[in-house]
Amino acid sequence: MVMLKIIKYPNIILRKTTQTITSFDTKLKKISEEMYDIMLTDDGIGLAGPQVNINQRIIIIGKLDDQEYSVYLNPEITYFSKDKEIIEEGCLSLPNIFGLVRRSKKIHLKYNNLEGKKIKEKIKGLKSIVIQHEVDHLNGILFIDKAEQITKGQEILAELKNKLESNA
Ligand code: CO
Repeated sequence: MVMLKIIKYPNIILRKTTQTITSFDTKLKKISEEMYDIMLTDDGIGLAGPQVNINQRIIIIGKLDDQEYSVYLNPEITYFSKDKEIIEEGCLSLPNIFGLVRRSKKIHLKYNNLEGKKIKEKIKGLKSIVIQHEVDHLNGILFIDKAEQITKGQEILAELKNKLESNA
């Protein structure tokens, strides 16, 4: 058991960039399984390493549509469609806060699977949106940085930002 827990904003861990994964071992598989469990427990549809204090380029995407959950290692978005849509997003690291974010409808993704195999995939729909959100986490970026409007939890967010400033 690795015993993961969700790191919440404004914890500085969420702002760090993450390391490229170079060894695809059983420990990594274990981490991905535990990340999946904690994501389900907390009712999320995606989770990134930094959100559970794992400083590595790993994201988990929940079961969307008919698919099984997916693990993407070293994910890199190589194409963003110009065609975009605005969706209300939330995040397990920012409970009760929601905002409108504009993202590409389609992406091309390059990544390694758990065996280390290099894979290229074209992704659209909700899965593409969730992946863009999670890849941002790997670069220390949160949806509140990109939100055009905070739709719920403005007061909570203001309070958290205050806390951040008084700690600085
Ligand atoms: Co998030």
